[in-house]
Amino acid sequence: MSSRIRKARVNDVQAIYDLLKHMAAQGLLLPRSLSNLYEAVQSFFVAEDDEGKVIGVAALQVAWETLAEVRSLAVLPESGSRGLGRRLTMAVEDEARKLGITRMFSLTYVPGFFEKMGYTIVPLESLPQKIWAVCFQCVHYPDCKETAMVKDLD
Ligand SMILES: CC(C)(COP(=O)(O)OP(=O)(O)OC[C@H]1O[C@@H](n2cnc3c(N)ncnc32)[C@H](O)[C@@H]1OP(=O)(O)O)[C@@H](O)C(=O)NCCC(=O)NCCS
Repeated sequence: MSSRIRKARVNDVQAIYDLLKHMAAQGLLLPRSLSNLYEAVQSFFVAEDDEGKVIGVAALQVAWETLAEVRSLAVLPESGSRGLGRRLTMAVEDEARKLGITRMFSLTYVPGFFEKMGYTIVPLESLPQKIWAVCFQCVHYPDCKETAMVKDLD
């Protein structure tokens, strides 16, 4: 089955919400509300199969002048291990480059995947913009179980 990566449209938001909720229920990532996803729809990429079903998502979240996050990356398990996670991450990074971003980061439960994408582990404290903007409001703060990782874009 073929698949393509494209920018999200407003009518993808319900599918993005359902996919993230499904993954969050398994503790794989943090959930996001529908209203938050409508606000952030322009930051999202989706992977769709040849029937137009959303089978993967990822978002670019700018944190500071040259710093941005790969956020809400998820691929349905039945569509995994086919390179979609890699393609979604690359789409987010390409978009970041166009905006003038020079450093990407991720807070993740799957450091092994991000290592494959060229990211290296750093202390969370090295990302103060993330802590100020998001972590302080997170229900898990300060007991964050995610691994902070960064990658410099060329
Ligand atoms: C992590 C996730 C996005 C990977 O998606 P995927 O489409 O299966 O990944 P890909 O097929 O593109 O894999 C790319 C490479 O990463 C490796 N990889 C994938 N998942 C991995 C993992 N959990 N640990 C280590 N390596 C992993 C693959 O083996 C592949 O390596 P290769 O290039 O040497 O063959 C997907 O498993 C997922 O949605 N997980 C649940 C949600 C999640 O953890 N999201 C990340 C939140 S930041």
